[in-house]
Amino acid sequence: MASPLRVTNRASNKTSAWTALQSHHKTVSKLHLRQLFDDDPKRGERMTAEAAGIYLDYSKNRITDKTLDLLFQLAEQRGLRSKIEAMFRGDKINITENRAVLHVALRAPKNTSIIVDGKNVVPDVHSVLDKMSDFSNRVRTGIWSGYTGRRIRNVINIGIGGSDLGPVMAYEALEHYSDRTLTFRFVSNIDGTDLAEALRDVDPSETLFIVSSKTFTTLETMTNARTARLWLVSRFGGDTKSVAKHFVAVSTNAAEVSKFGIDTDNMFEFWDWVGGRYSMDSAIGLSTMIAIGPENFRAMLDGFHQIDEHFRTAPLEGNLPVLMGLLTVWYNDFFGAQTVAVLPYEQYLKRFPAYLQQLTMESNGKHVTLEGAEVKGQTGPIYWGEPGTNGQHSFYQLIHQGTKLIPCDFIAFAQTLNPLGRHHDLLLANVFAQAEALAFGKTAAEVKAEGTPDWLIPHRVFAGNRPSNTILTERLTPETLGKLVALYEHAVFTGGVIWNIDSFDQWGVELGKVLAQRIIPELESESAPVLGHDSSTNNLIRRYRKLREEHSHEQ
Ligand code: F6P
Repeated sequence: MASPLRVTNRASNKTSAWTALQSHHKTVSKLHLRQLFDDDPKRGERMTAEAAGIYLDYSKNRITDKTLDLLFQLAEQRGLRSKIEAMFRGDKINITENRAVLHVALRAPKNTSIIVDGKNVVPDVHSVLDKMSDFSNRVRTGIWSGYTGRRIRNVINIGIGGSDLGPVMAYEALEHYSDRTLTFRFVSNIDGTDLAEALRDVDPSETLFIVSSKTFTTLETMTNARTARLWLVSRFGGDTKSVAKHFVAVSTNAAEVSKFGIDTDNMFEFWDWVGGRYSMDSAIGLSTMIAIGPENFRAMLDGFHQIDEHFRTAPLEGNLPVLMGLLTVWYNDFFGAQTVAVLPYEQYLKRFPAYLQQLTMESNGKHVTLEGAEVKGQTGPIYWGEPGTNGQHSFYQLIHQGTKLIPCDFIAFAQTLNPLGRHHDLLLANVFAQAEALAFGKTAAEVKAEGTPDWLIPHRVFAGNRPSNTILTERLTPETLGKLVALYEHAVFTGGVIWNIDSFDQWGVELGKVLAQRIIPELESESAPVLGHDSSTNNLIRRYRKLREEHSHEQ
């Protein structure tokens, strides 16, 4: 079957702007940030952008005005503006799955109209939000109680990937705003330890499970959900009627939810046009809403929406996600940088890098263009990170003095949610210092002037010229979190457009799932199976079976 693609731009990466950037890179790569700042005393004020209270300082990047000019030309030549419009309009831009990509509809105000297959989807979004609000309020006030009438004290979200990382990240990020009388746990791994630890000390009569799965077929989630169901029912002496009060579902698949034994009245719906990794603001955020309350959840959606509007309408030059996306392309494709470090100087954002890993790497980890041709250069970089200041005492050494170029995103807040003496000023001093040290370093002459013996000088030199963005905003609130996530979502989109890839499918996760299904019976069969894998896989399976057997005799 021919590709359903109807794009006119079938060019490879070699647009004229791309070619110009290649030769421009030869000049810029020789420039040092020290010189760029010396030449333009206002650079640190000029190369900044602000939207919806998010301030982005991108002056410590290895760019000139010409670089930006060429990057904007590249964006124009790749049709970024029309592709943004296409996404917001509900076009089926996820071409390999023939789906619209409409996470922006999840935070669209009630009076908006976004049409998918002839239907305005916004009223459905708001009716699910209302249903979630009602349910969250009932749990929070105790009106929704467990099977024996006890108040719910523990909420356990069972999901994986986008059905876990968003909820857990948002819960951690917004813990300050959460109802502290409730305990929240997040079970994702099929490793039984994850569930066992979550259940170890909770009372089933006070525990609510939210089974979150877009497809409701995911092996990990369904295995954990079945085991949790067994655990619950056995604690109620085999009474399966208990399930209705202790299990709710979030899914697009009502048939499977019902098959599992959850009443679809207790199902919170979302739609195939919401990608898993773009779903934390859909019903997948039910645990978040129970934790922080419907009002805070809606404030978070408003934050998302403010950045959506900014992305859709702001000129490229002052468009935060566009700037961030283009800078990622600049380092990834022209400097050959392999990774981006995300370094939030905010303890509540400790899971933000892990969340961004799925968002960025599942989206832009692709090797073919929309037309199915092998890409010519590099696509999405590896994302990683840890909250500051912990990272400073761990991996920053390599960023400062190693041989790899690692662009960094520093994220900081002007106000802390936990004022404790000098802590916040010390934290912020560190984030500003790190960005400064990376950019400007310390020369051999400076090291020598400190009285360092000659032999030690090379070890103590900081070459500098290591790029970073600094995102500074007022305070971590539900609204700010929405803005931050939307910022990265749209930066990812921008990269995907430049690389001309489908940022919204994830075929790369399929093969492993299929092979695991084949191996499961080979591990579970009583008699030794006939194995047809490669010699390494065959050998590992045999060895595992043998070790398991020996161990079972010991017990
Ligand atoms: O295996 C990857 C993936 O499909 C992700 O894209 C998704 O977020 C995750 O699995 C979970 O899927 P589901 O919500 O359908 O259980």
